[in-house]
Amino acid sequence: MIDLRSDTVTRPTPAMREAIAHAPVGDDCFGEDPTVRELEATIAGLLGTERALFFPSGIMANQAGILAQGEPGTEVLAEARAHLLHYEEGSVAAHGGMTLRAIPTASGLLTPDDVAAAIRPESPFHPRVSLLALENTHLDSGGRVMGAAAVAEVAEVAREAGLRVHVDGARLWNAAVGAGCSPAELVAPVDTVMTSLSKGLGAPVGSMLAGSEETIGRAWRIRRRLGGQMRQVGLLAAAALHALDGYRDRLGADHRRAAALAEGARTIRGVRVTSPETNIVMIEVSGTGMQPTEILAGLDRRGVRMVPFGPTRIRAVLHREIDDAGIEAAVEALSYVVG
Ligand SMILES: Cc1ncc(COP(=O)(O)O)c(C=O)c1O
Repeated sequence: MIDLRSDTVTRPTPAMREAIAHAPVGDDCFGEDPTVRELEATIAGLLGTERALFFPSGIMANQAGILAQGEPGTEVLAEARAHLLHYEEGSVAAHGGMTLRAIPTASGLLTPDDVAAAIRPESPFHPRVSLLALENTHLDSGGRVMGAAAVAEVAEVAREAGLRVHVDGARLWNAAVGAGCSPAELVAPVDTVMTSLSKGLGAPVGSMLAGSEETIGRAWRIRRRLGGQMRQVGLLAAAALHALDGYRDRLGADHRRAAALAEGARTIRGVRVTSPETNIVMIEVSGTGMQPTEILAGLDRRGVRMVPFGPTRIRAVLHREIDDAGIEAAVEALSYVVG
């Protein structure tokens, strides 16, 4: 199977399993797991933050970051197609008592004007806004990148209005490669960032929340409240350290293969694809006269998996287990099914 459904489908390599097998561990609830500590220090170093905390998932880390900074009854501003709004089970509202306000954009990337227009003047009749949540890369737009200057400009508008800024950086590592800068430069102007280890990096489990000592201290308690406290979790941290060391340098190859897939798909009758900036390819199939589900079933029969993304799109995501031959085969299968 050429599995392009998501960059979360990768399985641990033999070397990663070896790293897991030999990881020194302890009870992380007592702060005694040396491998978790090493991972948290490594991530804080890479992101230039005071502290980082290991979480079982990105959704939990996003929640903890937001709940640690906003109060119940206040609003969180987010781009209208944000993962936070559409794929996180309303968790910020359910567990934090905060509402998410959607800011529509054409590109998926918020601009300073978008944010300024969404911030209302102080009024006793409207809820206060406590946070701005950015998403980098932006999933729904096909993995578009907010560069360091764009993040800084938007964050400045938010900060002037007294808002905290959180980044859903599930694919921050891809964003940094796409932007040609370090991950630290992308998050320098913000308060907290969630970043996943289980997506492009290929670790089996885990996301990090990074920020100041004080905010991450609050997030530690929220993680516990959400049931995310883990014990000898150095086994998972070892896999993540291995991924950071061994697989971060190869993200550019995923981006090149995403571009190759887009180029190949674009030559097929009725298919439209915008050029991907990172590892996500959104394929618009309304011009083929076929439903995404029909195309996906045909692809599946030819050993290629993708997922539907809305009524007229299908999504393919590049990752460590896909090579150049996989891309060629995927284009061939799509061409056969649509043709
Ligand atoms: C943009 C974005 N944010 C957050 C998440 C949530 O991560 P997790 O699946 O680890 O909870 C995802 C997962 O796909 C994502 O794509």
